Amino acid sequence: MADFVVDFSKHGDPSSDGRLNSPAFQRNHQPILEVLERLLSGGAGDVLEIGCGTGQHVAAFAEALPHLIWRASDPNSAHVASAESWARYSKLANILPPLQADASTSDWGIPIPGDGFRAILCFNVIHIAPWSVAEGLFAGAARILSPDGVLVLYGPFSEGGAHTAPSNAAFDQSLRREDPAWGIRDISEIENLAKEHGLFLNEAVQMPVNNQILVLTPIQREQ
Ligand SMILES: C[S@@+](CC[C@H](N)C(=O)[O-])C[C@H]1O[C@@H](n2cnc3c(N)ncnc32)[C@H](O)[C@@H]1O
Repeated sequence: MADFVVDFSKHGDPSSDGRLNSPAFQRNHQPILEVLERLLSGGAGDVLEIGCGTGQHVAAFAEALPHLIWRASDPNSAHVASAESWARYSKLANILPPLQADASTSDWGIPIPGDGFRAILCFNVIHIAPWSVAEGLFAGAARILSPDGVLVLYGPFSEGGAHTAPSNAAFDQSLRREDPAWGIRDISEIENLAKEHGLFLNEAVQMPVNNQILVLTPIQREQ
């Protein structure tokens, strides 16, 4: 299997009810959850995942953070079907039906809760997609996040134009070989894009195997 997966339905056997499995999810969901528990503790709200892949993150996080309403989305219909199956399998009442959505479009077609989303999550997407997806993600997040909401990115990032580990440099090369429009994004690019859309990089959390979580918030909360 490639180091990165763009279509989980082409890797491994799905369960009989169509639930796809991501080995990366098995490795990363617990450390990600520990950060989300801190960011999203207390108070009700809605969380949207962009580029959900198999849909396992929403199923796991909805169980761990039951005070929130969760919805997954992805442009790939096989991924949306898998997310539907995971939601059904979980039997949790706080998961809304997943939707097909392409972050690079100007209207994601996702119903927006009255007070906006408390969080938008996007894990391992913007380096395996053209930059227009990051642009669409930030524009959309600025449109539909609540004023105290957070945009949470997870993945590898470079800093000051330099990779943070040799493995990330090799991964970046393999991404760019696959598609020259892909590649590990630099935190300075993220900060510039955030500023264009009225967002601010509030926090960068070091995660296992040279990944990071970036937490972005609407700019009026800048301190
Ligand atoms: C490497 S997978 C990551 C899946 C999941 N977030 C995870 O961490 O396991 C990248 C995902 O991004 C999705 N994706 C690709 N282009 C996208 C776009 N324009 N808008 C939203 N998601 C996109 C793919 O369909 C795929 O599910």
